[in-house]
Parts: sequence; C-alpha cells; structure tokens
Amino acid sequence: MSENSAEKIDKPERRQFRAIKGTRDILPPDSALWNWFEQSARQVFESYNFRDIRTPIFEQTDLFARAVGADTDIVHKEMYVFGDQRALRLEALQEKIEEGAADAERENDQKLFLEPVRQFIDEIEAGLAAGEMEASRSAFDSLAENYRRFDAIASDQAMRCEPEFGNLRGDLSFKCWDFPIGETLALRPEATASVCRAYIEHGMQTLPGNQKLYYVGPMFRRERPQKGRYRQFYQVGAEVLGPSDAPAIDAEVVEMLLTLFHRVGLANIKLYVNSIGCKECRPKYVELLREKLREVKDRLKEDSQRRIETNPLRVLDSKLPEEQPIIETLPRISEHLCDACREHFAKLKEELALRGVGYEENWRLVRGLDYYTRTTFEVTAAGLGSQNAVCGGGRYDGLVELLGGPAGIKGIGFAIGADRAILSIQESGNLPKLPGLAVFIAWMGAKAYAPALSIAKKLRALGLAVELPPEELKFRKSLGLADKLGARYALIIGEDEAASGTFTLKRLSDAQQQKLDEPALLDFLQSEFRGANAR
Ligand code: HAM
Repeated sequence: MSENSAEKIDKPERRQFRAIKGTRDILPPDSALWNWFEQSARQVFESYNFRDIRTPIFEQTDLFARAVGADTDIVHKEMYVFGDQRALRLEALQEKIEEGAADAERENDQKLFLEPVRQFIDEIEAGLAAGEMEASRSAFDSLAENYRRFDAIASDQAMRCEPEFGNLRGDLSFKCWDFPIGETLALRPEATASVCRAYIEHGMQTLPGNQKLYYVGPMFRRERPQKGRYRQFYQVGAEVLGPSDAPAIDAEVVEMLLTLFHRVGLANIKLYVNSIGCKECRPKYVELLREKLREVKDRLKEDSQRRIETNPLRVLDSKLPEEQPIIETLPRISEHLCDACREHFAKLKEELALRGVGYEENWRLVRGLDYYTRTTFEVTAAGLGSQNAVCGGGRYDGLVELLGGPAGIKGIGFAIGADRAILSIQESGNLPKLPGLAVFIAWMGAKAYAPALSIAKKLRALGLAVELPPEELKFRKSLGLADKLGARYALIIGEDEAASGTFTLKRLSDAQQQKLDEPALLDFLQSEFRGANAR
C-alpha cells in the first residue's frame, strides 16, 4: 500500500452539511426579531383571552387527509409522510422474507425464509406487548398460526417434499407481505386539524365557554422553495371552537389579527373577506360553477380543466392572466348563498364596521383547504412579491364532527405565515428597537475579577444583558470588543476601582463617563433600561 492510500484510509472524508432545501437557520440578530414577533402575538392573543395549545408536529397521515382534503395540493403533493421505526423495520423484514422465499425455492434451504419470518413475528409480538399495533392483532393471530404449522413441517425431512409444504410457504410469505403494518405518519402541514383532534381527544366541549386557543410553531410542506415560501415554515395561529357560530366571533378573530399586525408595524396590509356558503348552498353553487366551466373548458389551461371535475372552486384561485377574463364571467357565490349564510355574512360585515376594521370583499377567495364553510379571509402585505399572503383563515363548522367529534361544534381561526410577516417588516425597514447587549464589563487585574463577577450577577438579576469576558483583556482590546458587540455601556473595573468600591461607567455612543458606587450604578442602569422592549 502506498503512503498516499494509507493516508486516505486514515482520514475521514471531509464533508460539509447544509440545511435541507427549503429549510433555513434563523440566526441572531434575526432570531431576536422572531422572538419579539411571537411575543407580541402571545400578548395580543392573551389580551383577547386566547390560550396557548401545543400539539405534536407529527400525526397520523389520515388526520390531514380527512381534514384538509385528500384531493388538495397540500395532502396530495406536499406532505412529508413516513412510517414509524417499527413499521420501517417490518417493511425491511417483509422484503427479506420475499427474497428468502425465492431463494428457498431455488436452493431448498428453509432457513433463508424461516429466519426472517421468525424475526417478523417477534417484532410484531413485541409491538403488541408494548400496546402498539393493536389494530393488527387478529391479522397477527392468523399469521402466527400459519407459521407454527409451517415450522412443524419444516423440521420433518419427509414432509418437506410434500406439495403442501410449498403451498404453505407461499401462503405464509403472502400473509407477511400483506400484513397491516400500521398507519403512516405525516409532519403537520398545518395545525387546525391537530387542534380539532386535541379538542375531541380531551373532551374540551365539556369545558365552559368557547375554547379560544393559539399556537406558534413549524409546519412542513414540500412546495417549490422561493422568496417567502419554505418547506419548513412557521405559523402563528388561533382557533375558536364551540357551539356558537355568531358572526361576532368571526369579527373578533379578525380584529385580533389586525391588532397584532398593527402592533408589529406590518405595512400596507389588505384584508379580503368572502363567504363560501355552507353544506346546504355550496354544493348547488359548485354544480352551477362546474356546468359553466364545462362550457368554457377549451379556453382554460390543463390545471383548471382538471379542477372542473375534481374541485371547481379552485379554478377561481387561478393566477394565469389568460384565464382572468373567463373567470370574471363566472357565477359568483355571493349571489347563490342560502338565506342563513347571506345573513351571517351581512352580520359579519356589520360587526367588522362596528370594530373599525377595513376590508375588501373578494368573491374569488375560496382557499386551498377543504374544511372551510361560510367566512373565509386572507391578509396580504407589501414587499413579498408573489407570495404576499401573510395570513389565511376562515370558518370550519363541520370539521370537528368530520374528525369523529361531537356534532354541532363550530370553528373559526387563522394562521399567520410568520416567515412572511417578518420578511415584510424587514423589507419595510420599520424595525423595532430590540434590547441588545446592555453592559460589557471591562475588568483588568486579578483583584478586579471577583468584583466583576459579583456586579455581573446583580445586573443580570435586574434583567440586563451583560457580557463578562472569561479572560482578562488589555484595556483597548476590551473596549474595542465592547464596541463591536454593540454594547450600550462599558463598565470599567480596574484594581483601583476594585479597591475603592466605585465603578467607571462609559456610554459607548458618546464616550461620556461617570463614576458611581454600587447602589448608584444599579439604580442608574435599571432606570436606563426600563421599558427597553417597547417599540
Ligand atoms: P394556509 O393558507 O394554508 O392556511 O396557511 C396560512 C399562512 O401560512 C399562509 O397565508 C402563508 O402566510 C403561510 N404559509 C403557507 N405555506 C407556506 C410556505 N410554504 N412557506 C411560508 N409560509 C407559508 C392554513 O394553514 C390554515 N390552517 C389556516 C386556518 C386556521 N384556517 C382556520 N384556522
């Protein structure tokens, strides 16, 4: 072996890892802006008596398929679906069994087949003992029975030559291959389905009043990444669940949303509202729309042509310029609402006016999720290009029942795309003043170290951000670093200061200095940084 090749073996391959396409790291100082945005949302939502709910980031795939709709883009194309660890192991074993069965046929070696089947059965038995895979119990019993017979015959040389043996092997491998391994899981593409699942699972309908819940967290959709569109993105959302569908609830939710947008200084926002009817009037409208669309089918592009049959409402979402004049001629849902829906929508608009909420009606706002009924709304913001929807929401009165919950529970909510909202705030340049590093402690000399540690602890207890260099630095270097870190003040502690119990406080913006004893220093800095979080 040459020296060179020995080197290659010894050195591990140099490899750099990068964040997965469509995901990103949020680093300081941007992360401070994110925290501030989320904190503002919590404050505003809690002032409307909404409370935090935290649900898992993965659920059974079927929950989303049912809630969001199996034919929607989100479920059909964009979900990250996976098996859990046991299901994945079992799938690998199933493949081994199949290979073993083929090899056993050729080589007459039963071990190749029996061994993985035995392992397969052990895995399932362990799963059942752990309380998992309960749904598979009866399938397991017949599989295990089949295996016992096969195992008994396999140990009898003479029997192995009987045709029954081959038949049994075929049957057993078929049973293993067809074994119901368990449901797949999906990373959540949105959280409304999870909130409803949790509401039902915990019997929250028995709690007093409407349940007003909010959440903050990552969602996952396998979309084509671009500005404002990511595969892991963050939503700040709110949901109201309960027996009432009073339009005042819809209006309060919208008012709360706009209060937050106002608080965080989101510029040039536009609120669009619509009503897409209920299960009484919408199907009739959808049929009418389908008929009209069939008449103009030849003038539409492929996607819209397909949607005429699968989901005609989604044609209204089309952004293709050549389809716009055709869409403008289509019947509008507002003219086909039933009396109850028309009244609900009229009342919502009155309520919004009463609250001073400006809006624009948009009859084409149908949204890309199947669970909506009646009210739908969306907010767009400036500086985002084509992905300018910063929030989408609406009413979903039948969803709890659809997911196996009690009848008569109504729901409404929204989700803000935090990535987009923050991007829009950044683009506008209207950034909040966030508290950075308050004090850098420039200590010099061994005797200054203990007083430096002690004062750092006291300042941190007041809630100030304090940087204390872990090693002694020369005076100029220390102040230079304080400056680069963006500290507001440098607190200078040399051996003289340590001996006299006074500190030199230097404001870095204008180099103004003052000498203070400890109580005066604590007082001064506390009042200096009071309310530092205000916008
Ligand atoms: P959605 O319209 O699918 O609704 O998403 C809400 C918001 O999430 C969008 O307006 C957008 O700002 C943001 N968003 C969606 N996909 C991405 C992405 N790939 N990258 C960045 N941001 C994105 C829902 O999710 C419903 N669950 C809202 C709701 C709650 N309706 C009733 N309650």
